[in-house]
Amino acid sequence: MIRKKLIAGNWKMNKTSGEATNLVSDLVAAVGRSSDVDIVVCPSFTSLESVGKALDGSSVKLGAQNMHPARSGAYTGEVSAEMLRSLFASFVILGHSERRTYFGDTDAFVNEKVLAALKSELKPILCVGETLAERESGSTLKVVQTQLEAGLEGVTKEQAANLVIAYEPVWAIGTGKVATTDQAQEVHAFIRELLGKLFGAAIGNKLRILYGGSMEPANAAELLAEPDIDGGLIGGGALEARSFVDLVKAASASN
Ligand code: 13P
Repeated sequence: MIRKKLIAGNWKMNKTSGEATNLVSDLVAAVGRSSDVDIVVCPSFTSLESVGKALDGSSVKLGAQNMHPARSGAYTGEVSAEMLRSLFASFVILGHSERRTYFGDTDAFVNEKVLAALKSELKPILCVGETLAERESGSTLKVVQTQLEAGLEGVTKEQAANLVIAYEPVWAIGTGKVATTDQAQEVHAFIRELLGKLFGAAIGNKLRILYGGSMEPANAAELLAEPDIDGGLIGGGALEARSFVDLVKAASASN
């Protein structure tokens, strides 16, 4: 397989710094030497430093859940790419549907963040996905295409190699309703084709496309067996060591 599987945990607004360190210590003990699956944990800003220290010496990478595109300035409550880099974050989730829905992140603003992240050598995990109404009206692929094209505007071929895309159908997030393997594979294949058009087939074939939305140990194996599903962006299932470790194992077994 040309693409190494990637399992990323999006802890959202969960865990104090102490709780986060406990969780990550358990993860490091269980899968901290994993070499056949890439693992990323994305705690909240307040836990980045302590989690980063707990990850030191392991193969698990650190990611943030958001950032502001400006380098610095009067943006109360915001955090820059450089601040994340200084805490040894190497990934950043951008365009998550919760940011789009609750905090007004538009495609244009997500695009600014993507460009700023790449410039600072942070790898964006760009999230795209349709709502239930959009799926039911048959516009899933169109919505995903718009989010991707707008979110990636101005990204060069050279920069594109550092991207990760996450397909997260909004109706599957935190609902226990997982996309069927056919539904997910259809969108993942479409995303890969689009990436190929934007950046060339070689890059399109190299980039990892994660599935997110109620992915759990019980349903991971069949999703990860699909040809264009290269890993998972995990919410609820990443908050407990056992389920996250089981997801990593499922990714490893699917290689
Ligand atoms: P759940 O795994 O809780 O459905 O969340 C998925 C998600 O939003 C990851 O970013």
